[in-house]
Amino acid sequence: MKILILGSGGREHAIGKKLLEDYHSIHLYFYPGNGGTSVIGKNIENHHTVLDLVFFAKRNAIDLTIVGSEIFLLEGIVDIFKNFGLEIIGPHYLAAQLEGNRIFAKSFMKKYGIRTPKYNIFYCYEKAINFLKKNTNSVAIKTNGIAGGKGVILVHNQNDAKKALKNIMIKKKFGESGNQIIIEDFLQGNEVSIISIFNGKNIIPFLSAQDYKKIEENEKGLNTGGMGAIAPNPYMTNSIWIDFKKNILEPTLEGLIIEKLTFFGFLYFGLMITYNKVYLLEYNTRIGDPEAQTLFPLMKSNFLNIIQSTFQNKDQKEIFIDWKKLCSCCVVLSSKGYPEKYEIGKIITGLNSLEEPFYIAGAKREQEKWITSGGRVINIVGIGNTHEEARRKAYDKVVKIKFDNLYFRQDIGL
Ligand code: GLY
Repeated sequence: MKILILGSGGREHAIGKKLLEDYHSIHLYFYPGNGGTSVIGKNIENHHTVLDLVFFAKRNAIDLTIVGSEIFLLEGIVDIFKNFGLEIIGPHYLAAQLEGNRIFAKSFMKKYGIRTPKYNIFYCYEKAINFLKKNTNSVAIKTNGIAGGKGVILVHNQNDAKKALKNIMIKKKFGESGNQIIIEDFLQGNEVSIISIFNGKNIIPFLSAQDYKKIEENEKGLNTGGMGAIAPNPYMTNSIWIDFKKNILEPTLEGLIIEKLTFFGFLYFGLMITYNKVYLLEYNTRIGDPEAQTLFPLMKSNFLNIIQSTFQNKDQKEIFIDWKKLCSCCVVLSSKGYPEKYEIGKIITGLNSLEEPFYIAGAKREQEKWITSGGRVINIVGIGNTHEEARRKAYDKVVKIKFDNLYFRQDIGL
């Protein structure tokens, strides 16, 4: 079997490693991939457009394509691959707007009674400023488009709010994605990521996870793609699972079916637990990164079998995913300066003898050497009977890796 995986991060490396662990004989292709994926498969070079990828998949008889990164989804890759008769996992263009268009997603949540923080939509700077003058609470200001994951600014006073609005709506710091904005009530609490597999009839959740989004310890500083993750999420108790299913998962499924937004792919619920109630902050229509890196090492079931039973037996209602009764902790090693300016091209040592699991993101292979090539460089995972043990094992491995300007958070899993 030949599988093409789209994306270049630790998530794509984790998907690939898990597939190979379960089936040694599959052939993996990655676009664009990274230094890690080039070790376990073949990175495709010089294929830049979706149509180029279609021709690659046809020419090489690719059996299945798994979309890792949202960038491809928002280019409509699923619709195009399907038009050419190619098997692909991911939402069609309209369903991908649940991630790509926040106003679309919020309107969907409102229509189907999905519990989400209160919000208002603004198309005009003056109206947004006037609203904020009357509203002195902390709020989240969100661009309509996802702006490469940077379009959410939390503000706690009028001055910061004004500055943020000016940057988004006047200076267009996030481009067109800030033409319309959402001002949402700010909820204080514990964040949870629930990734699920959706076969058009059923949404089957994975184990819960927790993402650490900020660059500095104690969730301070700029938003990043994720500086670490743990699983399972200790705040996701049985009663919160029941609340999530009733107030978020089930109405989501109902809405997806009624609105004809069903697809075969992954659906990610970004949740906030506050005062024992769970709220939906956002959907993503893919697997999270670095959640994938913390979840796949705990997955006991054969991932390809799950995909096949979920996607190819479309009538199957009950899909059981088996998880190890263990905890995992993933620490992201990054280049100092990320998520803003950082240097690349630094030699990495310690990787060749590092104990699994670990996943490569922004690093490449050059003449048998590992070299940094991105902001988030390596994901190191510890597995243990408790969160404490998983955390200790991850950090014991972290100290074995060295490169100039290495930065990581010390508090993942604390
Ligand atoms: N970890 C959050 C995301 O994948 O967007």
